[in-house]
Amino acid sequence: MNKRKLYNGLMLALVLLFALIGPVMNVHAQEAEAPKKKLIMGTSPDFPPFESVDAKNTGDIVGFDIDTANLILDELGYELQIQSMDFNGLIAALQAGRVDFVMSGMSATEERKTSVDFSEPYYYARNSIVSKAEHSYETLEALEGLVVGAQLGSIQEKVAYEVPNPADVRKLNKVPDLVQEINSGRIAAAIVEDAVAVDMTNANPGLVMNFLPSEELDNGYAIAFPKGSPYVEEFNTVIAKFHEDGTFEELKQKWFPEPKNNAGSDKLIDFSVLEGYVPYIMKGVGVTLLFTLVSALLGLILGSILSLFKISGIKPLMWFATGYTSIFRGTPLLVQLTLIYYATPQLTGYDIPALLAAGLAFGLNSAAYLSETIRAGIMAVDKGQQEAAIALGIPYRKMMISIIFPQALRNILPALVNECVALIKESSLVSVIGVADLMRRADIVRADTFRSFEALLLVAAIYYVLVLILTSLARMLERRLRRGD
Ligand code: ARG
Repeated sequence: MNKRKLYNGLMLALVLLFALIGPVMNVHAQEAEAPKKKLIMGTSPDFPPFESVDAKNTGDIVGFDIDTANLILDELGYELQIQSMDFNGLIAALQAGRVDFVMSGMSATEERKTSVDFSEPYYYARNSIVSKAEHSYETLEALEGLVVGAQLGSIQEKVAYEVPNPADVRKLNKVPDLVQEINSGRIAAAIVEDAVAVDMTNANPGLVMNFLPSEELDNGYAIAFPKGSPYVEEFNTVIAKFHEDGTFEELKQKWFPEPKNNAGSDKLIDFSVLEGYVPYIMKGVGVTLLFTLVSALLGLILGSILSLFKISGIKPLMWFATGYTSIFRGTPLLVQLTLIYYATPQLTGYDIPALLAAGLAFGLNSAAYLSETIRAGIMAVDKGQQEAAIALGIPYRKMMISIIFPQALRNILPALVNECVALIKESSLVSVIGVADLMRRADIVRADTFRSFEALLLVAAIYYVLVLILTSLARMLERRLRRGD
């Protein structure tokens, strides 16, 4: 009897509990349905275990910082979007409003505090010296008179200058490049932060690291925001919580002790280091081809228009076309590319996607060259053709489109193929603005394997095959056209 009462009471309590909690849970469900605000995080994924590209699996950016960012944003109800760039460009990206915050193992230095706001620190790092195992250096003094390396724009750059009379301080864009420079003997040692140095030496049996005599713990990693950002406060609350509830400890457990699985090879050339990376690299073929196609089409259309301007006999149009060609041929493509990508948001506020900027730059540039080629092709069409068309009373536009242009195109086919070949190869430049084309992927794999030759040779071969395929297709087409004569 008593038992029964107890049971009934329990049931009643449960029902009441659900009645109370139910609506609350519902509210939450509704909240979750509302689209979350997206925050863009800038990071430089050359810094395992904090951030690096997982080129063996998904090609996503992973690491301690990424997990932390995800957890913090989950807690605050935002959605995370990651934008990768070189470490050296992160602060500028914050200032330009390209990203909402930066998490990239960035130390909250006084100097940086003059241009950005920082959260409370979430990790403290110590500096170390990484070098070949044969020459282990324990202090900065021991490096006297040698060439020392550090990442461009990092605080390690300053530490490197503390070496007495260094022969040179080499500043490199990416941390893994330092390893290759040590291996090749171009630098004697590099200044690298602890967990990252551990990761490096794990992956490269030929390297050793020594912690620098510990400075006071002033090198705290923190999240950077644009000055006056509204997010600092709420991020700080979550960081404090994660310090207390052990979240950061857990993340350290997850990311720090893990030695890299590609225990480096000490063979001179060893293609087996590419194992697992090939699918990731191959995905770049599509990007490279798509991009080449878009810029070739744009170049052809624009180039045709410009060439018509040039032969139009209308002064302002001719001036415009000549000026255009002069400018686009007279300045380096790399400058045009970076200009379009970085200056567009500065001038117009439109955050132009990298692939679009690249297609535009290459299309505009190749239009300049093609306009000349097409003009020459048109001039080369027998004068009699035009005279005949005029005599037959065919209007100018129709004559151009259906009589002159097709013949011109056939004349210049070899030149067009040349232009496409150039586009395919030059497309490798787009890797500098972060488009994940073949070259960029090779760079990432180089960083991951700490070896250059294998990945570069593989992409060189892929480019070569692409060009071969293109040229043989063109030859077939040419033969066809000739038979049509
Ligand atoms: N903590 C150093 C700094 O703030 C190096 C950070 C480098 N981070 C990176 N993702 N490469 O200067």
